[in-house]
Amino acid sequence: MKEKFGVITLSFVLILQLALGKFLVEKNNLKVTSPETIKGVYECAIGNFGIPKYGGTLVGAVVHPVSNHKACKSFSEFGVSFKSTPGRLPTFLLIDRGDCYFTLKAWNAQQAGAAAILVADNKLEPLITMDTPEEDNADADYLDKITIPSALISKSLGDSIKSALSDGNMVNMNLDWTESVPHPDERVEYELWTDSNDECGKKCDTQIEFLKNFKGAAQILEKGGYTQFTPHFITWYCPKAFRLSKQCKSQCINHGRYCAPDPEQDFSRGYDGKDVVVQNLRHACVYRVVNETGKPWIWWDYVTDFSVRCPMKDNKYTKECADEVIKSLGIDLKKVDECIGDPEADVENPVLKAEQESQVGKDSRGDVTILPTLVVNNRQYRGKLEKGAVLKALCAGFQETTEPAICLTEDQNTNECLENNGGCWQDKAANITACLDTFRGRLCECPTVQGVKFVGDGYTHCKASGALRCGINNGGCWRETRGVYTYSACLDDHSSGCKCPPGFKGDGVESCEDVDECKEKVACQCPECKCKNTWGSYECSCGKGLFYLREHDTCIGKFGAMKLSWSFLWILLLASAAATLTGYAIYKYRIRSYMDSEIRTIMAQYMPLDSQPNTSGIHMDI
Ligand SMILES: *[C@@H]1O[C@H](CO)[C@@H](O)[C@H](O)[C@H]1NC(C)=O
Ligand SMILES: *[C@@H]1O[C@H](CO)[C@@H](O)[C@H](O)[C@H]1NC(C)=O
Repeated sequence: MKEKFGVITLSFVLILQLALGKFLVEKNNLKVTSPETIKGVYECAIGNFGIPKYGGTLVGAVVHPVSNHKACKSFSEFGVSFKSTPGRLPTFLLIDRGDCYFTLKAWNAQQAGAAAILVADNKLEPLITMDTPEEDNADADYLDKITIPSALISKSLGDSIKSALSDGNMVNMNLDWTESVPHPDERVEYELWTDSNDECGKKCDTQIEFLKNFKGAAQILEKGGYTQFTPHFITWYCPKAFRLSKQCKSQCINHGRYCAPDPEQDFSRGYDGKDVVVQNLRHACVYRVVNETGKPWIWWDYVTDFSVRCPMKDNKYTKECADEVIKSLGIDLKKVDECIGDPEADVENPVLKAEQESQVGKDSRGDVTILPTLVVNNRQYRGKLEKGAVLKALCAGFQETTEPAICLTEDQNTNECLENNGGCWQDKAANITACLDTFRGRLCECPTVQGVKFVGDGYTHCKASGALRCGINNGGCWRETRGVYTYSACLDDHSSGCKCPPGFKGDGVESCEDVDECKEKVACQCPECKCKNTWGSYECSCGKGLFYLREHDTCIGKFGAMKLSWSFLWILLLASAAATLTGYAIYKYRIRSYMDSEIRTIMAQYMPLDSQPNTSGIHMDI
């Protein structure tokens, strides 16, 4: 009975400390965008589970379920699903508080396909933080699987949304995390309040798992100077009146100054709170020693090795075991021991004293009361303690474009491009998309493909630009090949857009239609002419003894009986020769340019240059 009293007393001290301190609820913005009547920005408190989209926003339409409105049962029992379908906004499920754990509501909402859950408070009160249940219940294995973000909203907002919905309105809103982590400078400072205790059930397991999984990322960030990480440990003190009690003696060190609860809540067996305080102190001291040597990331190796090599269940939660780990990592054991000092002495320990002081909230951070707690840029992190989710929050602490590469790796992506191409522009045929998947959510940005820059708004249009633009999907322009002839509406110069080549008409994007020069009477109309349309051009022939002069669209006599003087013809021939040479030079430099087919046709008729049809003036593959 006395033992129980001890536990109760110590818990009481802790509760007293909490009641006196300030506990800040991290609030986020929730913006109702429609209907007009309730449009505005509201506060909501993000739950301490699920994965908030740090750095991003989530857009959705609110649904208040007709039955199961507290979401304590699976929605499948009611045959309803909120899964998103193409063209439909993600569902934010509005659920009433009460009757079951927040986490169970979130799990049921997620199972039914909701993108987020909004829990409407059932009484008028300041917002609270929704947390995971402390108890280890048998069904709790779903806790790890909750990924949708959850937010508590006030009763009054919940009521307004419900009445707007029942009036037949569509309620749309954004949940915004873009400013939930401040980014005052180029480095992200973060703290993890943790514990070396490994026998507290689910919470302890989650903590150890997190340390192991996050170690790699934490070390990369720390080595690169992107972050400054500091581990912290909670202790509390035994009130003077109880200092000599058996309870305080077994739970505290330094004469009741620093205490931790008994790991098994049982004073008669296993390890005592005192053992936990000493190991926590060792964790803190190891950090200080390795931080001094300029290699703070070794701390992550120490704590993960310690949890593997020195667990309570193997009776290895001891100084001897810890010292082995310290030595194996090449950490200065003497310095660690000096930092720990004598736990029996009636003196302050400077490290633990500093820890107790920083436990009290300051500025934008509330008191640290929940273990584990992660603080990023002095703002309390809300959400699941899981590698991906935490990395997202850290990455959100960087100014956009200054984030380290690790933030931009694939497993940090939101995969929002997979569904409906994220609503961004795409050219399915050419497999080009403007959707960019980042940890901040998707961006619609015209891409650069094989050196060709696409320009546009990224949502409805993107167009290849620059000299090489025709190399990719023909610059988005029409292009067709028939036999040996290919025509294209893309010009490989610095022009933009698409233009049907001469002999064609159309928008140049979807299609270019052959112009029937004969029918439309644009050429070959002289009385002695015989017109024949071809794809992209036409052929014109004159009566016996006459030549067709394309440039003048007229027939001329073969032997001087022409209307044009010889001098004109010579000039024409010289000009044509010059044009050929220029054309050849341009061709040599591979700037495939448009050549004057008219002149070349004339040339071909006066002195056939080449029998190949390609050079006869209508190859327009440019
Ligand atoms: C760790 O080292 C850095 C830089 O040397 C220093 O600014 C910081 O205060 C140190 N942290 C602790 C807890 O000693
Ligand atoms: C489209 O391109 C992406 C990457 O550029 C590639 O992974 C994917 O397999 C391509 N899809 C098709 C259908 O070609």
